Amino acid sequence: MAGIYFHIPFCKQACHYCNFHFSTNHKAVTPVLDAMVQELVQRKKALKAPLESIYFGGGSPSLVLPEKLAVFLNLVAKHYSLSETVEVTLELNPDDGTTSYLEELKRIGINRLSVGVQSFQNDELQLMHRAHTAVESHKVLETVATLFDNFSMDLIYGMPNSTQSTWQQNIAAALSYTPPHIAAYALTVEPKTTLAHWVKNKTVTELPEEAVQAQYNYLVEELQKVGYANYEFSNFGKPGYYAVNNSNYWRGKPYLGIGPSAHSYDGNFLRSWNIAQNTKYVNAIQAGELPLTTETLSTKDRFNEYIMTGLRTEWGVDTNYIFSAFGPTYAAYLEQQVAPHLELQHLFWDGDTLRIPQKARFLSDGIAADLFLVELQP
Ligand SMILES: C[S@@+](CC[C@H](N)C(=O)[O-])C[C@H]1O[C@@H](n2cnc3c(N)ncnc32)[C@H](O)[C@@H]1O
Ligand code: SF4
Repeated sequence: MAGIYFHIPFCKQACHYCNFHFSTNHKAVTPVLDAMVQELVQRKKALKAPLESIYFGGGSPSLVLPEKLAVFLNLVAKHYSLSETVEVTLELNPDDGTTSYLEELKRIGINRLSVGVQSFQNDELQLMHRAHTAVESHKVLETVATLFDNFSMDLIYGMPNSTQSTWQQNIAAALSYTPPHIAAYALTVEPKTTLAHWVKNKTVTELPEEAVQAQYNYLVEELQKVGYANYEFSNFGKPGYYAVNNSNYWRGKPYLGIGPSAHSYDGNFLRSWNIAQNTKYVNAIQAGELPLTTETLSTKDRFNEYIMTGLRTEWGVDTNYIFSAFGPTYAAYLEQQVAPHLELQHLFWDGDTLRIPQKARFLSDGIAADLFLVELQP
C-alpha cells in the first residue's frame, strides 16, 4: 500500500512559529497548481502499490477551490489504483471553512479533515499570528463534526505564557467535539522564524521544559481516559481512526510527494524531495524536468530511523526485524546500547519488542539518539 502527498505552498499570512515551505504572495498560485498537475502526470508510474492515502497538506490547501482539488483527485484515480478504503485528507485552516466549502470538499471525495486549531485562546492565536479567532474555530468544528465522520484537530502546547490551566481549557474545548483523532505538538522554536527572533531578543520567554512536560503528561492522561490511543508521540486516535498518511510514513511504506518541497520515498533505499522554491519548481516542471534531489539511504540511516520511529510509536522496536533487515551486528549493537536505559526503566522488553514506558515518553527522542549507530558503516 502507498500514499500520495500534495504540498500546497501558500498561506494567507505567516504564523510566527512556522518554517514549513509556503509563500504569502499568491501571484504564483495558478502556475504552481498547473505545474503540480504536470508533475503528477510525469510521475504517474512512480508508485506500484494501490493507494491507501491521498493527502493535501501545506501550507494551506484550504485556500484552493474544490474544483481545482478535484482535478488532482481525478488524475490520481485515472493513473493509480485506489484501495477501497482510501483516506483522502485535507488540512483545513479554520478561517477557510465555510459550510459551502466543506460541503463541496465532501462532494469531490475528501473524506477526512485535519483542522488547524492550534489553540482556543485568542491571546495565543494573536501572539502566533494565526489568521483566525477561537470563535471561528468553534464554528468550523461544529460544521466539520456534522458533515465528516473522520476528522482530526491540530493543537500546540508549550506556548509562551500558557499555563496548565489554559492548556486544560484547550483540551476540554477540543474534546467537546469528540474528534476521532487529535495531533498535539510541542511548540518548537524553528530557526529564522519571528518566534526565534523574539526568543533571542527576549520579546517572549520560552516555557520551562518541566512546564511543557506537564502539559504533555496532562494531554496523554486526559486523552487516554476517554479512549484515545497515543499511537505516536504527538498523535492520538480512537480505534479505527489512526491517520493513514502518517502511519504509512512511520511504517516505511512508499509515498509520492507532489509540489514544491514535497518528499517522496520508494519504501526501500531511495528518498527524494522537490526544490523548496516556487518559481524554480514551476520553471523546471515546465521544461519537462523534475526538480528533485535524491538520497540513497545507508543501512545505518535506515536502522537509526527505524529506532526513532519505533520508539515514538506504539509499534515499538522489534529485534527480530532488526536482525532480518539490518543483520546481527546491528542487533548486538542495540542490545549493548539499551542496557543503561533498561536499568533506569526508560525502556522495557515486551517479548521481543523494545518499548518506552509512559513515564519516559517525553524523553523518547533523547533515548532514541542514545541507541543510534554513529560510527559503524555497513
Ligand atoms: C504546517 S501546518 C499546515 C496546516 C495548516 N496550514 C495550519 O496551520 O493549520 C501543520 C501543523 O504543523 C504544526 N506546526 C507547524 N510549525 C510548528 C512549530 N514550530 N511547533 C509546533 N507545531 C508546529 C501545527 O500544529 C500545524 O497545524
Ligand atoms: S502553520 Fe499553517 S497557516 Fe501558519 S504559516 Fe505554517 S503552514 Fe501556513
